[in-house]
Amino acid sequence: MYGPAEVATSKSLVVAVTAALALLGIALSFEHFLGADHYNPGFLRYPLIIGAHVVAGAVYLACGMLQFVGQVRSRWPAAHRATGRVAIVSGVVAGITAIAMTILFPFHGAAAVYLVMPFAVLFLFALATALGRARHRDFARHREWMIRAFAIGTGIATMRLIFVPWLMMGEITDERARPISLMSFVAAFLLHLAVAEAWIRSTRGTTFEPAAR
Ligand code: HEM
Repeated sequence: MYGPAEVATSKSLVVAVTAALALLGIALSFEHFLGADHYNPGFLRYPLIIGAHVVAGAVYLACGMLQFVGQVRSRWPAAHRATGRVAIVSGVVAGITAIAMTILFPFHGAAAVYLVMPFAVLFLFALATALGRARHRDFARHREWMIRAFAIGTGIATMRLIFVPWLMMGEITDERARPISLMSFVAAFLLHLAVAEAWIRSTRGTTFEPAAR
């Protein structure tokens, strides 16, 4: 367990990095609608699925960010609950469409079902558990599952930060991009879940705010 000073410093760092990644994730979602020339032909065949995914994902990240602002939780608990519901509904849409994409038009091939889909399932499980814990007024566990879900959601931004420089280190072809994209997805989600778990364990019992009730 860290002392209060270390917790405060690392909290600021984690909050700044998480917010930057969430904003990058939202920007990437906007970027989807800017280019008509998509690397995945499935995006053109199933525009509603990918469209719903990126819009819901961006809404999830925007509303999700608000959930972690302590002042909103303590001063405007009704706003916290309202944006929390929007975050969960949009997160569920983003998660279900992610599963649909890995089955219907995976850029990475069939391996996506085994290596990407489990994270989408875990994302949905984390959201459902977070909602269930809030309904049971178990706000400490609710916070932990919201952190896990948000860690997976913001993982898509880190995925790009791994994928793009790695791809640019060699010839840019679909054959090279597919495994690099797959490994970047897995690395980003694992990294985010590990940091989230370390954060949850080191702050358990130190940051719970009764005012959030
Ligand atoms: C919750 C926040 C999320 C946001 C903002 C988001 C955003 C995006 C964006 C912008 C794209 C790329 C569209 C393009 O290149 O034009 C994408 C694709 C994709 N996302 Fe998400 N996503 C989120 C969550 C997830 C999750 C949790 C998963 C699964 C674990 C996931 C799986 C995928 C897959 C499989 C693709 C297609 C990738 C490809 O064909 O290479 N996403 N998402």
